[in-house]
Amino acid sequence: MHYMLHTFGCQMNVADAEVLAGHLENMGYSETTTEELADVILLITCCVREHAESKVYGKIGELYSLKQERPEIILGVGGCMPQQEDVASKLKQRFPYLDLVFGTHNLSSFPELFDQARSSGSTVVEVLHGVGGITENMPRVRRDNLKAWVTIMYGCTNFCTYCIVPYVRGQERSREMSAILTEICDLAERGYREVTLLGQNVNSYGKDLVTQPDFADLLQNIEQISGIERVRFMTSHPKDFSRKLIAVLASSKKICQHLHLPVQSGSNRILQAMNRGYSREHYIALVDEIRRSSPGAVLTTDIIVGFPGETAEDFGETLSLVREICFDAAFTFAYSPRSGTVAATWAEQLSKEEKKERLKRLNDMVNEIALERNMLLVDQIVEVLVEGPSKTDEAMLTGRTCGNKLVHFPSDPSVIGKILDVQITKAQTWSLFALPVGIPR
Ligand code: SAH
Ligand code: SF4
Ligand code: F3S
Repeated sequence: MHYMLHTFGCQMNVADAEVLAGHLENMGYSETTTEELADVILLITCCVREHAESKVYGKIGELYSLKQERPEIILGVGGCMPQQEDVASKLKQRFPYLDLVFGTHNLSSFPELFDQARSSGSTVVEVLHGVGGITENMPRVRRDNLKAWVTIMYGCTNFCTYCIVPYVRGQERSREMSAILTEICDLAERGYREVTLLGQNVNSYGKDLVTQPDFADLLQNIEQISGIERVRFMTSHPKDFSRKLIAVLASSKKICQHLHLPVQSGSNRILQAMNRGYSREHYIALVDEIRRSSPGAVLTTDIIVGFPGETAEDFGETLSLVREICFDAAFTFAYSPRSGTVAATWAEQLSKEEKKERLKRLNDMVNEIALERNMLLVDQIVEVLVEGPSKTDEAMLTGRTCGNKLVHFPSDPSVIGKILDVQITKAQTWSLFALPVGIPR
């Protein structure tokens, strides 16, 4: 018996997919990547932008013919999409051939839901709303044996006016520090060398816990775990980035000098309308301080163009901020109205064409700067964690720098899983080329 998972969206879904895989393997299923062999197919969905949802709808439609050929196959849709108001019932109506529709708060009861779906003739729908709490010790099948995702907090209570995440992931709640440390110690014992700590706003970790630990305390404790050599985290929110964290970052030997610090806009008027809780000036001062104490830090960001009411001048301020900060990379998005969020109700929506035009201008600038930043690395010797064969050239291997940059270099597979020094020979916008210079360790 085989299962197949299609995971959309962010790392939260990747982490949830690992739990679903854990449940399914406990029930005797093993994974396949061939749809024709699958007895169970689950889609773990995202609704952060319209495009993310269209991809899912496309995929559900595509699965119809498979279900007709093999009615015994179990088709399930979980993740963030069904968690939106009315979407679960719409899915059931529009795609009656689905066996199971479940939400983000239903992972712990998945085995029971799955049993119901197997025995029921119609779609089983279970979407819990308004749930708090955290279930520890769920089964988990990790996709990688070198790098692990570790969720440190769930949900989000920031309510940026464009964003659906707080509605589909519930309120912000932190895991107990002891549970996180136990999980990472166990990973280290099993040979993992890198962990990425996950949360929508990791900088506010611990504020909801009785003992009030903070994110910097958590990092300092993780630093002590032998075996773990690299620690990453996402996402940092500019409004909660503490001085203490800047100091911990600069003094740590393990925390990767890479910050994903979404700015969203360079205009104070728009930042306020977005309810981001910081100004352009605060952001610039924060980056200055980080770069002063960690000069090699790689800085990436998220930017939205075409937010309701964004004028040409506001957009110009985003461009000028991008030029001033010189991001190493940026994920850029055209604003997508999400039903249920405040900004979607505002009258001053921009046209698709305007958003597209601004996105293109922004991307051109972001790419130009990314290449400039990568060029600065040519001739430098950097450390990479070797991940495996390059996806574009089988003769090459690929690794990532501490700054999370992708590096391709010639070497033999015996170095996979090791840390290796390489000298950068060539820079492109999205990746670097190098030659190994050191002894793998
Ligand atoms: N918690 C993170 C972001 C999670 S969502 C943070 O606060 O930074 C990832 C990114 O998707 C956001 O940073 C934002 O740039 C983008 N995004 C979210 N909602 C969007 C929308 N309605 N339209 C376009 N982009 C959106
Ligand atoms: Fe969305 Fe804002 Fe929360 Fe990030 S901080 S998940 S953008 S509401
Ligand atoms: Fe998408 Fe849900 Fe993540 S909406 S971005 S998968 S939290």
